[in-house]
Amino acid sequence: MKTTSLFKPLNWIKFLINPKKGFDVAIKIISDYPRIQNFLKIKNKLYRKLIYEFFIYIIAKNKSLNFYFLKNNEKIDQINFDINDFKNHRNKIFESLAYNGIVFIENVLDTNEKEKILSSFDEIKKNNLQSEWLDKNLINASEVKYKNSKTVNISYARKNLKVLPQLENISEIITSRVFGRTVDSYAEFFLHESKEKELKDSFDDTNFHMDRYLPCLKIIYCPEKIENCDGPFGFIKKTHKLNNSLIKDFLYETDTSIINENKISSLIDEDAIKATCKSNTIIIVFTNGLHKRNIFLEKNVFRKTIFLQYTKKFNKLSLFNYWKYNRNFAK
Ligand SMILES: [Fe+2]
Repeated sequence: MKTTSLFKPLNWIKFLINPKKGFDVAIKIISDYPRIQNFLKIKNKLYRKLIYEFFIYIIAKNKSLNFYFLKNNEKIDQINFDINDFKNHRNKIFESLAYNGIVFIENVLDTNEKEKILSSFDEIKKNNLQSEWLDKNLINASEVKYKNSKTVNISYARKNLKVLPQLENISEIITSRVFGRTVDSYAEFFLHESKEKELKDSFDDTNFHMDRYLPCLKIIYCPEKIENCDGPFGFIKKTHKLNNSLIKDFLYETDTSIINENKISSLIDEDAIKATCKSNTIIIVFTNGLHKRNIFLEKNVFRKTIFLQYTKKFNKLSLFNYWKYNRNFAK
């Protein structure tokens, strides 16, 4: 829902009839992290520019966000790291994340927590949620995302991060660096199953696109290895920078969040990566940059991923509340 809906008289009447619900809806509208869909509804290019530049001005005031999404960082080519780097040479990982917009950390969890996650995925596979899930019913995410297509099945369930303490600890370290202080999340389990071999451009999210036009962090945990045929995540390095001229030009002109890959073929050749990875790896990525799910090249493939997302807890109000997030800045 857009901020302008707060000014519609019909909504004021609804508010008077049910003030509690009205208040909740108003808070949601005010705090909701800006969505690209709403941005693209603005047809006036100058107005789009003004809004984008205004948010850049606000984001620059958060020292952490400024470092990751605006600053010209030192060039670092290495994007693959190990848990020992995360323990001993953390600065280099975060400098690479700031420069590239994506990094991989291998061997992140101990066997115990990794096995716990794998047995949770077995529960999803058997549609029998027994352990400590937040909801006892499995959600068919493909129904929402892919409508009537039967090519890929996505099952979804979530857990409180407290039950996965190592992953929670990693999330705390990463969020305090990226946002300036710890931001909570849930462990969102996604089990993808390819029912058919997919064709190019199968769905919207198998084309390079942006989820948001403002800073957006996702952490993806892969308990098992992901190879070329397993629908790996794809990302174009450096497209997370808000002052990237290609991104700006795209945002000012486009009426869709999907970019025409033919128009950026040289950029894809140069900076696109397929995020294939070993088992027990996390991918830290900024999905306001251009990304996609690569297609499944075989049928009957299962892809297990846990997503940690932050736009609920780090919302629009958090963007304006930058002094609270600046207190612990260390870089
Ligand atoms: Fe996406």
